[in-house]
Amino acid sequence: MYAIKVEDLTKQFNGFTAVDHISFMVNYGELFGLLGPNGAGKTTTIRMLTGILKPTTGTAFIGEYDIQKKPLEAKQLMGIVPEMANAYIDLSAIRNLLLIGELYGIQKKKRIEKAENLLRLFGLYEKRYQKVRTFSRGMKQRIIVAMGLMNDPQLLFLDEPTSGLDVESVRLIRELITEFNDKGIAVILTTHNIEEANQLCDRVAIMNHGKIVAIDRPEKLKRTIQSTTSIEVAFDKKVEPGEIIFKGVSEVKKVGDKLRLYTEKPEEIIPVLVKYAGSSGNKIISLNTLAPNLEDVFLKLTKKREE
Ligand SMILES: Nc1ncnc2c1ncn2[C@@H]1O[C@H](COP(=O)(O)OP(=O)(O)OP(=O)(O)O)[C@@H](O)[C@H]1O
Ligand SMILES: [Mg+2]
Repeated sequence: MYAIKVEDLTKQFNGFTAVDHISFMVNYGELFGLLGPNGAGKTTTIRMLTGILKPTTGTAFIGEYDIQKKPLEAKQLMGIVPEMANAYIDLSAIRNLLLIGELYGIQKKKRIEKAENLLRLFGLYEKRYQKVRTFSRGMKQRIIVAMGLMNDPQLLFLDEPTSGLDVESVRLIRELITEFNDKGIAVILTTHNIEEANQLCDRVAIMNHGKIVAIDRPEKLKRTIQSTTSIEVAFDKKVEPGEIIFKGVSEVKKVGDKLRLYTEKPEEIIPVLVKYAGSSGNKIISLNTLAPNLEDVFLKLTKKREE
């Protein structure tokens, strides 16, 4: 029995195809990522799976329930953390959780217990009576994720759960997502953070222009482009990417204060780099050879450069 089974799902908005005939399955206990650039169709996919948008074609099953034919049953199984969600800012943290508990018809004693547990887990217990208005962005997002967990979901949908948050909140939210996932909950999260997908997900679907262009475990996706090794180099004095496109280097990208050279033969390029530094009165501060990473796979498949 799958947690999610999507077949041929498509969404058009006035003739524009936002999601284009996608099919995939997610198992219980699996942490599944939808990775893609802005506008890829991730949120539209989540909205269809959670019964907010009606697909133009195709079906989606949540557990045994067709989300279109049995929306109430399907929704009982899921927790949802929407993109740019909001808590009620004039209510306290605990009131927000209790309200969700009430909506799900959880009896009073039980919902207080659940709310308090979640507040502890998310590091907000001390602030439980404070209005959410006074919370930092990271604290607000923690409450929103906690709200998605009030009904003990079997499936948790998270749309960009850590986007734009402080390091501490990101770490806490990722840890808790992993923890709930370890208990057997299926987690479907969208992200355009490649490292997040790499770290968290059992499997990743890479979306671009509404289509799934690859779907596999991160390690397997990386192996599909084994040939793309690169060298990351930092010079003492500034060097423009154009200056070091040597023969055998397919591309040079600026990555922070370093330059990344894509090449199939790093062992031949490294001496060339050293010689270049020497002859131009420059110094190499650091140099690393990098195996292909998920970003390389992503860029190759989406042909989108994020400079
Ligand atoms: N209600 C709508 N009406 C018209 N077009 C829409 C609507 N919702 C989404 N779209 C379009 O569908 C495409 C996919 O949007 P979607 O929000 O699913 O992307 P996304 O992958 O979630 O992007 P992001 O990473 O920016 O959140 C975009 O081109 C968007 O403009
Ligand atoms: Mg989105």
